[in-house]
Amino acid sequence: MSFCSDSQAAPGHLSAQSMSELYRSDKLDDKTHIFGIIGNPVSHTSSPIIHNPGFEAIRYNAVYVPFLVDSVRAFFKLAEMLQIHGFSVTVPHKRSVQPYLGRITREVKQIGSCNTVVRIQNMWKGINTDYYGFLAPIDDLIAKEDIRNALVIGAGGASRAVVWALHNHGVKVTILNRSIEHARTLANETMSAYDTLENAHLYSETVDLVVQTTNVGMGGELEGQDPCPSLHFSGMEIVYELVYKPEETEFLKRAKKAGCTIIAGKQMLMEQGKLQFEAFTGYHYPHWVNVSL
Ligand code: ATR
Repeated sequence: MSFCSDSQAAPGHLSAQSMSELYRSDKLDDKTHIFGIIGNPVSHTSSPIIHNPGFEAIRYNAVYVPFLVDSVRAFFKLAEMLQIHGFSVTVPHKRSVQPYLGRITREVKQIGSCNTVVRIQNMWKGINTDYYGFLAPIDDLIAKEDIRNALVIGAGGASRAVVWALHNHGVKVTILNRSIEHARTLANETMSAYDTLENAHLYSETVDLVVQTTNVGMGGELEGQDPCPSLHFSGMEIVYELVYKPEETEFLKRAKKAGCTIIAGKQMLMEQGKLQFEAFTGYHYPHWVNVSL
């Protein structure tokens, strides 16, 4: 039994429409596999609109729901009770789930961050689809050696996955960050170079790829800001933005205007979601589903 309220009587209530259309509540039964996302906050997540239509399209009896989680320990107990088959992990739990996992991949170990957990043979396995989701739009270019040098702006959680992915694929990375301490720590760990954002002009026109991993430019207070105004684009670079709301940040607009090839944040969001779907179901994400993120 569950309930909904059309006028959202309390935070987190589903509307009747999303309960029936997105979560397909009338089609769920005792054989339905439960998947979800844990985080706090979790209400803004786009993942249900990736996974639920995917399940429906391949007629996979499953549902994907958001779980607002404070205690990871309590959630793992619930996951056993409900026999949850797998879940995505978002802020602030990407690190704190790790003691509960029986197996982790090399990427989770390196990055120290797990964004996907799946039940395999009664054991929880942690993987990181941000790593491969980031690589998906550029792996051909890396293989052809069209990308040899990269500038990564930011040294936070998102940057860690990016820098490790590039480093593991033989790309030379320079990390530029507001706080030099954070840049130095990540650079030492990943055998990369580092510098301050103020010195960005020194790197103009020297790299094949620029990746923007900070939250500067994201909707809200930081919207419209440029994380690295002194970086000049020649037009030859590939500029990859991780912020996906708004769809085109100031940084990306500037790169586009200079003639650069651009990769928008939504692409990585979708790629990492598709990889999660594969880990959850064992099937490719159905290409005919049109997800509007
Ligand atoms: P995420 O997990 O999204 O990467 P995070 O770990 O909090 O989030 O990292 C945020 C990154 O954005 C950091 O590199 C941060 O720089 P500092 O290490 O100096 O804190 C960067 N950042 C956040 N706000 C910024 C701003 N206003 N200008 C420049 N960089 C900023």
